[in-house]
Amino acid sequence: MNITPFDTRHTPIYVGKDILNTSLRKTLEEKTPVVFIYDRELSSWADVVLKQLSARTDNILLLSVPPGETSKCRAMKAEIEDAMLEKKYGRNTCIVALGGGAVTDLAGFVAATYVRGVSCVYLPTTILGMVDASIGGKTGINTPQGKNLIGSFHTPRAVIVEMSFLSTLPFPLYRDGFAEVIKYGCILNKNLFAFLSDTESYESKHPLFLEKVITESVIAKIDVVLQDPHESGRRRILNFGHTVAHAFEKVSGYSISHGAAVAAGMVAESFISVLKGHLSEKEHTLIVERVRSYGFRKPDLSTASFEDLYSAMCMDKKNTTTVPRFVLLSSIGSVCPFGNKYCQEVDKETIRTALLHMEEVL
Ligand SMILES: NC(=O)c1ccc[n+]([C@@H]2O[C@H](COP(=O)([O-])OP(=O)(O)OC[C@H]3O[C@@H](n4cnc5c(N)ncnc54)[C@H](O)[C@@H]3O)[C@@H](O)[C@H]2O)c1
Repeated sequence: MNITPFDTRHTPIYVGKDILNTSLRKTLEEKTPVVFIYDRELSSWADVVLKQLSARTDNILLLSVPPGETSKCRAMKAEIEDAMLEKKYGRNTCIVALGGGAVTDLAGFVAATYVRGVSCVYLPTTILGMVDASIGGKTGINTPQGKNLIGSFHTPRAVIVEMSFLSTLPFPLYRDGFAEVIKYGCILNKNLFAFLSDTESYESKHPLFLEKVITESVIAKIDVVLQDPHESGRRRILNFGHTVAHAFEKVSGYSISHGAAVAAGMVAESFISVLKGHLSEKEHTLIVERVRSYGFRKPDLSTASFEDLYSAMCMDKKNTTTVPRFVLLSSIGSVCPFGNKYCQEVDKETIRTALLHMEEVL
């Protein structure tokens, strides 16, 4: 058994294999009323978790939700709240969420507002959930107007990263989460970036490799979040690769996966860093090689024009005018601070050149 608890001031985060029993015992007091919300595609894992929860309490409300984004909506939040109200769950309730980022975002938002806030514990089951969605306290749901437009910050009581869950995760979803891991290497941790050269361990889902990359990624995100909990400055660096990625996702009607979009976005945005004289061409080439070796290729954007992409970038939330702003690298593991703004406006022609370059090299 291997448990790595981190002190994140508020939230212990446990990372390891076969840690469920021990970490739940540390997290949940006996007899705590539990609302267990899980992705219904993960019912076998839910059975495993339920067995452990039942050893702590006999007051458990089981609620399964359909997989993915469709559950991240007002109607599903209301349905869960109504079920909890009907059974008279009160302030001492703990919501336990099992699933990817969609389920933890939804369950976290329910926890943030139910009787003005109850505690929650996340059991993420995807790489993205483990290294990103369950870390940092953001919760939320989608509306027809856009993704994550309604939500709140709510710190979970604990995050339990049980690596066994990854054994059933299909490879394309597994790969997708690694775009964010590569991102942490690029913006914050050159040792993590170097460690990611072990693609054999990546492909075989080697437990020691996973434990190391998940742990380093979690530490990287926590480091940023603790310095800027409400996203007013440094937290912007987590958007590296994402200005371009969000535009790719939008113009493709969200047919491109988030990971594939971020991977291509990092190639384009690190090339902007080269064109603007901040990053060496040699380091940019290392990023291209890393992205390719994880199996990412250029996204299919055959139906979109550069103008479509550019207008999508102009709508990015980092902008203060209509000129897109980018997080730029000064080297692998460091970003350009730009006087604590951590992003800079970039002209249209530079963006065009970077996108053409991304198409050539990926
Ligand atoms: N709160 C944040 O800070 C934050 C950060 C990043 C992303 N997010 C959110 O995360 C969501 C995406 O999360 P995601 O990529 O984890 O996807 P997801 O939760 O939508 O799950 C994707 C699919 O993977 C399946 N799945 C999950 N774990 C599995 C496993 N172990 N075995 C087999 N199948 C499994 C699910 O059933 C689902 O079909 C988005 O809604 C995004 O907005 C939130």
